[in-house]
Amino acid sequence: MTTTFRTPPVAGALEDSFGRVARSLRVSVTDRCNLRCLYCMPEDGIRWFEKSRILSYEEIRRIVSVLASLGVREVRLTGGEPLLRRDLPVLARMIADIEGIEDLAVTTNGLLLRPLAGPLLEAGVKRFNVHLDSLEPSTFKVASRREDHALVLEGLEELERLGAVPIKVNVVLMRGVNDHEILVFAELARRRPYQVRFIELMPLGGGEAMEIEALVPGHEVRRRIEEAYPLEPVGRERPSAPATVFRFRDGVGDIGFINPVTEPFCGDCDRVRLTADGMFRNCLFARVETDLKAILRGGGTDAEIAAAVGAGVASKGPGGCLDLKPYYSDRLARKMWQIGG
Ligand code: 5AD
Ligand code: SF4
Repeated sequence: MTTTFRTPPVAGALEDSFGRVARSLRVSVTDRCNLRCLYCMPEDGIRWFEKSRILSYEEIRRIVSVLASLGVREVRLTGGEPLLRRDLPVLARMIADIEGIEDLAVTTNGLLLRPLAGPLLEAGVKRFNVHLDSLEPSTFKVASRREDHALVLEGLEELERLGAVPIKVNVVLMRGVNDHEILVFAELARRRPYQVRFIELMPLGGGEAMEIEALVPGHEVRRRIEEAYPLEPVGRERPSAPATVFRFRDGVGDIGFINPVTEPFCGDCDRVRLTADGMFRNCLFARVETDLKAILRGGGTDAEIAAAVGAGVASKGPGGCLDLKPYYSDRLARKMWQIGG
């Protein structure tokens, strides 16, 4: 299964020094969240961005337009929790209408999906990834420190009802917290039209200190599933896709593994990021950001935005996941919920 984009890239515009071309943009629309996943956020005492610091929809549209003119073809809305941003379908429509944008997806924790899935699909969202770390209310409460488990399940049902398939369910395993549910998640992938994807826990800071001991390597997850349900490899949807997909050998459902820690895929990365406060990042683990908001609010032209983005891409390193060791001890200055998954 190979996805190619209709519109060819713009020669050289967003190519980095390793020959990778940026085609996919993650846009974080808010740093706020209605969960407090252990590895992502502290329980309380969070200082959210002030409203004036957050890009307006018009500002996001402008930046995405410039990026589309440079070859970006896919946009994924993230957060924080993107569905908390007021009138998100309005932004979805604005982005879907941008020339060159062929694919629009949303990563959400699912709490607000039941009311918003329909309007977002109508506005041009094509795909949803739903983050869900447990199928048990009690473990969900430990993993995300909130009780809203049932809302996520209702959100998933709504996606199914609307035919927004395949629905991708992202699971981050933490040893001793939710890894006893590996088989239950595998069974969900067999029972429903969901592609369950196990994402290795990354040391992104933000929440509880998540040390390497909490990581459940993807190969271990696969082995534990195969003891009950043999798998066969399908591959990647496209070379830059983070998930390696397997299908159950008896043909019922499939499952994905995203192994950024044990099998980094930085070499094929085509992703760049825009934070809710208007910073362009060339990598989840980037230590340097490009301040697009300052250019925008300082009256900068599209050409100036394009030049800043081009320079930001050109300076992309080989890839943050290639050497995660420092991050386990030295906690990141900027956390995942502020960057956008
Ligand atoms: N490690 C791995 N995945 C993470 N996510 C958030 N924080 C981490 C982390 N530390 C995932 C969420 C969500 C996606 C945006 O990123 O599960 O699915
Ligand atoms: Fe919210 Fe996602 Fe962070 Fe969980 S991982 S607290 S759902 S932003």
